[in-house]
Amino acid sequence: MGAEIMIGRTAIRKTAALAPMAGVADRAYRLMCKEYGTAYTVSEMVSAKGICYSDRKTAELCTVTDPERPMAVQLFGSEPEFMAKAVDIVLGYEPDIIDINMGCPVPKVVNTGAGSALMKDPDLAARITEAAVKAAGAVPVTIKIRSGWNRETINAPEMAKALENAGAAAIAVHGRTRDQFYSGEADLGVIKAVKEAVKIPVIGNGDVNDLASCLRMYEETGCDLVMIGRGSYGNPFVFREIDSRFSGEEYLPPDVDEKMRVMLKHIRLILELSEKNEELAMHEARKHAAWYMNGYYGSAKFRGRCYQLSSYIEAEELAAEFAELQHSRGL
Ligand SMILES: Cc1cc2nc3c(=O)[nH]c(=O)nc-3n(C[C@H](O)[C@H](O)[C@H](O)COP(=O)(O)O)c2cc1C
Repeated sequence: MGAEIMIGRTAIRKTAALAPMAGVADRAYRLMCKEYGTAYTVSEMVSAKGICYSDRKTAELCTVTDPERPMAVQLFGSEPEFMAKAVDIVLGYEPDIIDINMGCPVPKVVNTGAGSALMKDPDLAARITEAAVKAAGAVPVTIKIRSGWNRETINAPEMAKALENAGAAAIAVHGRTRDQFYSGEADLGVIKAVKEAVKIPVIGNGDVNDLASCLRMYEETGCDLVMIGRGSYGNPFVFREIDSRFSGEEYLPPDVDEKMRVMLKHIRLILELSEKNEELAMHEARKHAAWYMNGYYGSAKFRGRCYQLSSYIEAEELAAEFAELQHSRGL
């Protein structure tokens, strides 16, 4: 067992955690990453107002299953009153952590004053946090922020301090500004500045996709935990790679046969957990199938074929053909 950090009363292994990703890191994805060792999981973002008006889709997003724990449910919203009410409802799902999204750059969210729009209004961000903390009682409230709204207004350290004073139990920092969206490089200097500004745990996020980049994030920022988003696409193995290093176990990277086995397992899980019929659920599975093929000979062509998949049998056949191609090249 390696080191642990505490987020409120929740112990988290100091390895790497899966980032929240709406439309990607759903229950099937989280379970796959948990099996490979993510330190904790976070739900896709859920609208605080949506919960208050109790739509069904929202309730499904808040559900926490035991194998996903420790798990945070992530909320977004711009009004302290709705946030408090939403937290109260979410507590019914017994999350280990409640996280508030103050980093989402998408216009649909930002235009309501939520997500990264809150980087422009630290006072309101603090009031939202205070309301959530009060409603959450013993359940820790964490906040996920960006480095700032734009390059001229980088304020993550001040923002983090204000949120700490408002009762946040930890801060996750994506080292990009809102106007960068997902382009350019994450700025590790800002994450380091946040770490120096607060006493609560700081979670470093941005561009980590393997052990080397994870160690770099730890070393250059002094952060308490690392969070991985896109680097886990078709790659739950990244969590085992990192976990092995911290627990001193030997790590053997997966060969193409294991990758295809895990891909098929992931697809089966998507089909099993989906309420849709096989053909429609396969639409959800297609992008994941394609990601497991990244980086190999001929993968562009095969990825294109993944986007045509409409049954599990077809996925099995494609995986076998893909593995055979790699074998024929000596892999
Ligand atoms: C498809 C996608 C969906 C995302 N959805 C969320 C979300 O629901 N909540 C959130 O806080 N961040 C979300 N993010 C941001 C990620 O959590 C993360 O901060 C960002 O991708 C940078 O980390 P990475 O370089 O490891 O991917 C999303 C990112 C992507 C690519």
